Amino acid sequence: MHIDIFTLFPAMVRGPLDESILRRARDAGLLTVGIHDIRAVTTDRHHVCDDAPYGGGAGMVMKCEPVFAAVESVYLEGPIILLTPQGRLFSQSIASELSGQAHLTLICGHYEGVDERIRTQLATDEISIGDYVLTGGELAALVVVDAVARLVPGVLHDATSALDESHAGGLLEYPHYTRPPEFRGWGVPETLLSGDHAKIARWRRKESLRRTRDRRPELFAHWLAINSPLSKQDQQLLRELERSDE
Ligand code: ADE
Repeated sequence: MHIDIFTLFPAMVRGPLDESILRRARDAGLLTVGIHDIRAVTTDRHHVCDDAPYGGGAGMVMKCEPVFAAVESVYLEGPIILLTPQGRLFSQSIASELSGQAHLTLICGHYEGVDERIRTQLATDEISIGDYVLTGGELAALVVVDAVARLVPGVLHDATSALDESHAGGLLEYPHYTRPPEFRGWGVPETLLSGDHAKIARWRRKESLRRTRDRRPELFAHWLAINSPLSKQDQQLLRELERSDE
């Protein structure tokens, strides 16, 4: 997968792409990232990328010309995504949808906003990573790159970890433990030490259901709605959870 990121602050996005799994994916050629400084395409002496808003008011607005010129200088194909708090809310299913693309273009908005024509005439999609306002789209772009890249085949060594994890099946993941079996007097659930794989799978499923129900009721309600009728085992596990609540 190739991702082009357009930003006024290239140093803000470079670091995280050079570490850990993203670094490895890039070294392996599974992910290539172009970081493009929007300012570099400006031809005026002061490299101006923003201007005062028509109609007046506080703040500055990112100008059309440098953003269009920067994107058009490298664009080949695929979605052009503007990172903005007004976009559709990013989720695991959007990450999964985007991971099927060969090419993504991400535009990081800045200042008070971007000229509306960047949104309507250049971007093909708008994404927000949450209902809060960041200083710019850079951190949001990195969140999107990270969540999408790890779904690209080969990026994670163990492909089952992407299937098993929180959100992949619409539920939160079960708790994990590793050695030692006792730490400061705190143990590990017996079942996980039993070696009985069927029993372990059942325990994990039950904890996954419990966590989602208790921590994310809206996610749980959605999961119930799209998975009905539930499997016999899930029905049984939910009955057991309800009984243990009493
Ligand atoms: N830019 C500023 N805030 C943002 C957010 N929450 N998501 C995406 N881009 C942003």
